Amino acid sequence: MVKLSLPEHVAIIMDGNGRWAKKRGLPRIAGHKAGMNNLQTIATAASNLGIKALTVYAFSTENWKRPSSEVNFLMRLPIDFFDTFMPNLMQNQVRIMITGFIEQLPAKTLAVCQRAIEQTKNNQGMILNFAFNYGAQSDIINAVKLYCQDLQQQKVQLAQLNEQTFSSYLKSAQLADLQNPDLLIRTSGEQRLSNFYLWELAYAEMIFVDEYWPDYSVVDLKRDLQRYSQRDRRFGGLDKKG
Ligand code: FPP
Repeated sequence: MVKLSLPEHVAIIMDGNGRWAKKRGLPRIAGHKAGMNNLQTIATAASNLGIKALTVYAFSTENWKRPSSEVNFLMRLPIDFFDTFMPNLMQNQVRIMITGFIEQLPAKTLAVCQRAIEQTKNNQGMILNFAFNYGAQSDIINAVKLYCQDLQQQKVQLAQLNEQTFSSYLKSAQLADLQNPDLLIRTSGEQRLSNFYLWELAYAEMIFVDEYWPDYSVVDLKRDLQRYSQRDRRFGGLDKKG
């Protein structure tokens, strides 16, 4: 059997919930609910396959512009998700993290997210990291401000600023050596980053697929991991053949 090179950290832009629902004559929120259930399926599969971290773009800082009924539904999704799937997450030793401006979340959503983080903090399996109320440009500006504060307080020196030290000011730094995804998958046929992980994806392989997120199956995930394993990652250098 050929051994595949598996990405350690996979990121997914879970797009197409609305269109999935529309195709079926359902309200958009039915698409988000189906998307939530599919996330559990894909997260379990990723964990079983040996992926170390899975980051999912679940709510962007720009998503507040949607109608309030949809925003309210999306804000309740973590409550529903952890209520339904916590036993399964614990069984699989999945550790929950949230990357985003969580202090702006409604109190109940924030409390549920913090409880899930606390409850799973000693789990040794895959990290399931929700980019929730996350926007990369705001995160980078926030990191610059934090860095400038440290500079003013003489905790750091300008000469020491480099890619690695700057990375430690980003919200994704909590993933430590798994901070940067190896593979980005975006569903639903769109081919853009939508203000997701602009820094962290610098050397990620990207795969854009046509399936709407609720339809994205374990078979599709395995196909995309296979595609990843055939990519030649050079990180700006030359391949082994020179
Ligand atoms: C994009 O599809 C999807 C979202 C904005 C929400 C994604 C959220 C989930 C899949 C559930 C996540 C689960 C938890 C626990 C937070 P879209 O609405 O932009 O679809 P469209 O482009 O077809 O309209």
